[in-house]
Amino acid sequence: MRKKLIAGNWKMNLTKQEAVTMLKNLLEIPLSEEVEVLIAPSFAVLDTSYEMLKDSGIKLGAQNVSEYDKGAYTGEVSCEMLKSVGVEYIILGHSERRSYFNETNKVVNAKVKKALNNDFKVILCVGETLEDRENGRAFDVVKEQLLESLDGVNMQVVVAYEPIWAIGTGNTCSTEDAEEMCKFIRTLLGDDYRILYGGSVNPSNISELMKMEDIDGALVGGSSLKAVDFSKLVNYEVEK
Ligand code: PGA
Repeated sequence: MRKKLIAGNWKMNLTKQEAVTMLKNLLEIPLSEEVEVLIAPSFAVLDTSYEMLKDSGIKLGAQNVSEYDKGAYTGEVSCEMLKSVGVEYIILGHSERRSYFNETNKVVNAKVKKALNNDFKVILCVGETLEDRENGRAFDVVKEQLLESLDGVNMQVVVAYEPIWAIGTGNTCSTEDAEEMCKFIRTLLGDDYRILYGGSVNPSNISELMKMEDIDGALVGGSSLKAVDFSKLVNYEVEK
């Protein structure tokens, strides 16, 4: 039985004051036993977030981690540091990391291994560009990202399928296309893997997505920054 997961990726948003207000609102959200809920704030507010969420049932995630252990790596944050502020999940391979910060599958692979070896749960993001999809290459690209990012990895990760053209654009992938890719990923990895969809998930499309057999949850950007919307996402109608 794969537990559903709704994960909010705050990206580079919310100052400490804004985060505290958001966290107070999140603490009001009724949580269901059937859904695991996670937020991934910026590094700057992880500690504050942990303190506020620790008794709530909402899990804490980071948006990145260094592939190095410690030392002279200016600007980087290590696994040990994330552990010390209560982080449980790490999002890796997000398309924004891949495209703006040149993270290749090889770098993502090193980070995945480092995080898993340090007992974190990993949400590995994969997804094709619009050009890939239009050229019929979506499945090949996603397969290559998965195989290279998980090369030599024998522990389970959560995979987030995020078509790049659907992220932050309001252009959600159709539920059928999302399901088709999530099913494809499942055939590559195995039945027990949790596979999320991400890309313009909002209160009006969540229940349709969650009805799909191979979609085990959502990775949410924009809608995770509005407490009212995030509350609706977390409490989508669970189909019995
Ligand atoms: P979005 O972002 O929900 O704003 O499209 C999703 C993501 O980048 O994880």
